[in-house]
Amino acid sequence: MYIDCSNKELFVFKKIAGASSELGMPAFIIGGFVRDKIIGRATKDADIVCLGDGILLANKVAERFSPKPLVAFFKNFGTAQIKIDDFEIEFVGARKESYTVDSRNPEVEPGTIEDDQNRRDFTINALAISLNKENYGCLIDPFNGLADIDAKIIRTPLAPIQTFSDDPLRMMRAIRFAAQLQFHIEDNTFQAIKDNKQRISIVSQERITDELNKIMLSTKPSVGWHLLFTSGLLSIIFPQMVDLAGAQYIDGQGHKDNFYHTLQVLDNISAHTSDLWLRWAALLHDIGKPATKRFEEGHGWTFHGHEVVGARMVPKIFNKLKLPLNEKMRFVQKLVELHLRPISLTKENITDSAVRRLLFDAGDDIDALMLLCNADITSKNKFKVKRYTANFELVKNRMEEVEAQDKLRSWQPPITGELIMETFGLPPGRNVGIIKDAIREAILDGIISNDYQQAFDFMLQKGKELNLVPIA
Ligand code: CTP
Repeated sequence: MYIDCSNKELFVFKKIAGASSELGMPAFIIGGFVRDKIIGRATKDADIVCLGDGILLANKVAERFSPKPLVAFFKNFGTAQIKIDDFEIEFVGARKESYTVDSRNPEVEPGTIEDDQNRRDFTINALAISLNKENYGCLIDPFNGLADIDAKIIRTPLAPIQTFSDDPLRMMRAIRFAAQLQFHIEDNTFQAIKDNKQRISIVSQERITDELNKIMLSTKPSVGWHLLFTSGLLSIIFPQMVDLAGAQYIDGQGHKDNFYHTLQVLDNISAHTSDLWLRWAALLHDIGKPATKRFEEGHGWTFHGHEVVGARMVPKIFNKLKLPLNEKMRFVQKLVELHLRPISLTKENITDSAVRRLLFDAGDDIDALMLLCNADITSKNKFKVKRYTANFELVKNRMEEVEAQDKLRSWQPPITGELIMETFGLPPGRNVGIIKDAIREAILDGIISNDYQQAFDFMLQKGKELNLVPIA
């Protein structure tokens, strides 16, 4: 089998072959490295499986390099790792595994290369390449993984029920690979995911969320979310997303299916950014819609306040999904809350003051917000899209003009609390806050410009209204 390896990779594989031959311990490259080389994707690390003790082989391989690399090993798992520059190689003995019903931790015993390939998740991940003298470089492909790569199919090597009930995380992996590689999950395999979906409950949230993030970072994340939905996994791992699905009709009036709208927005934004958190913001932008949905006589369907309700849901969702509860979450929350603002500006006469307030509230996240807003234009009606897009451009231009003039984007108050206290000889307290807020409001309303001297004069005037006298 010809695979396109770098000189460094070939050099390392020759060393492994030498050590394996010295020990009389056959060795193979296996799994994701082989899959990705055949597909032509970038590879980072390689897994080596040997018929014997992986830690012993790793040590023998390390001895063949100068300087000798460190061998990191985990005795309990029988695995060892070495790193040659940035190329990580992991060694493990071939295993036969069986799983107990309530755990992902397998019972392990030594096995043949075939046993080891049997226990892997998908045919495309069960491909091995020999590093042994008699057939160096030959592909060992007992499950036609190569044909499945060609046909872009994800299929389990054993009966899918067995593979998934052995390790239910694989249901998420199947969907993640389908999204990343744009492969199709073979029908029996997909049916088995549907049948076994409840078993996902024994998988830790961290592992599930790792897969969700990989789906999010794929070129067209809607593929993965759609499969999660149709398999039934989504209603177990993220029911709030399922609540978005469906279009209800009253008096012949329906609303759009917010699940598919959300997926469209997610794909739209993904065409412009690979920022994981901006993609999460797109996924969650309408999450407050089901809770705020009303049918109003004469008006039709409304979702008043869904952006506020949605923003409030973000910390709970992040907490449940074990996503970070830090500034990334606050970024997503802010975007969900503000996502209607730029477009709503176009519905009124755009005043400078409204534009200034948006720039002030969005701060440094204004570009991200505008990307989200643009991605949110998904109507099937071409004329509507044209009109929205034109309005959107109008707001963008106005924002640029106001920003050029007022520099509100990363706004710092021109007058600090300390200066107010110094000027009027005040201790920290209510009056300092009143004056600070009044200066900010005056700038946002355009009464004064965002400039030190005008703000200073305004402070003096405001002080006078509060019966304060400057001390110098
Ligand atoms: N594997 C498996 N079942 C799992 C996880 C992994 O059978 N639940 C096997 C597969 O053969 C896989 C290999 O272990 O190819 C390595 O796993 P991992 O490094 O997690 O995934 P990769 O396939 O290398 O893909 P990626 O790096 O994109 O996660």
